[in-house]
Amino acid sequence: MPEDSPLEKQTPDSLMLFGFWYRALPSDQVKRGELLPTMLLEQPLVVGRDQQGRAFALRDACPHRGMPLSCGRFENGEIECSYHGWRFEAYSGQCTAVPSLVADQKLKVDRIYAGSYPCEERDDFIWVFVPELGPAGAGFAKAAPAPMPSPEIPKFGEHYKLAYLTADLPCSVDHGIIGLMDPAHGPFVHQAWWWRSRHSIHEKRKNFEPIPYGFRMSAHTPSSNSAPYKLLRLYAKADSITTTIDFTLPNMRSEVIRAGKYWFASLTTVTPITRNRCRIDVVAAWNLFRWFPFGADLLKFVFAKFVEQDRRTMELQSEGLKHNPHLMLIDDADRPAKWYFGLKNAYLEMKKSGGEFRHPMDGPVTLRWRS
Ligand code: FES
Ligand SMILES: [Fe+2]
Repeated sequence: MPEDSPLEKQTPDSLMLFGFWYRALPSDQVKRGELLPTMLLEQPLVVGRDQQGRAFALRDACPHRGMPLSCGRFENGEIECSYHGWRFEAYSGQCTAVPSLVADQKLKVDRIYAGSYPCEERDDFIWVFVPELGPAGAGFAKAAPAPMPSPEIPKFGEHYKLAYLTADLPCSVDHGIIGLMDPAHGPFVHQAWWWRSRHSIHEKRKNFEPIPYGFRMSAHTPSSNSAPYKLLRLYAKADSITTTIDFTLPNMRSEVIRAGKYWFASLTTVTPITRNRCRIDVVAAWNLFRWFPFGADLLKFVFAKFVEQDRRTMELQSEGLKHNPHLMLIDDADRPAKWYFGLKNAYLEMKKSGGEFRHPMDGPVTLRWRS
């Protein structure tokens, strides 16, 4: 890790993991011919889309004197910096012109690069691969391709619908993630007359198993007070419904619910924007309700309510967290949060030592809690 790395300045609970794909922006926010500034892991980015519809992402700082490239002009697949007019090829970041040069000045323009990031579009989002931080002065070299494709929502057939929701959370990615996987807040945060009340609280018992870089809540019949389950019961016999929930580093919760030929899948991510700000994006794909006119709206309504309740809770929580309270994680309800921190440490340790990934779980575990 370079000496001046922003990682050094972070408190232990807000480390951000480099070397992964992250959701940058919803696809429909970036129009053809447009440049949009955004941020991932405290890296300023300019995301754009050319006239053919292909998306790209560059570091939003000109390698000359740092002017945000998002202030420049985008034309014919090239970005022209607004300060001295240097031009860069949008996908590779390669410099194509330095207008101030006179004929006999032999600066090798094509050896200059604006930092560029691997960029893919998947399930209505533009994903950007954020590599490990290079040594200071990097960005003058061609970017390496991503070691793996961007994550995808599992789908079980050609015909399905897709929808997304997004919300900014005023907290570190860690609080966003452990809030997302926390099984005990449901009865208190997510009350609604059409869903559940705090009196529906009951004991639960779920099996968990380790998976690469994460853990899985093994396939089971969903709890009777969960919302997708209530919707699916309209379609299938209760005992034919199964759900599997995975968490994997750096930030992904994937849920698959199947009921005979019907299925519902979602991939939720909590993306670090800065060390104390993150964003939750829920993207769902399903083949239920395809013939039912308000199906997508109904589903969006249900999820928007949940996400808003979580967002509001974390907004309030961030007030308390400002004063650095001592925090405690208890068994079994906070065990997934402990695994998350264990996974994260294992990943950072592996990067540091160059050794194996030491998974924090040694085998399947059953957890019990009331919610
Ligand atoms: S700062 Fe971009 S061209 Fe000078
Ligand atoms: Fe929640």
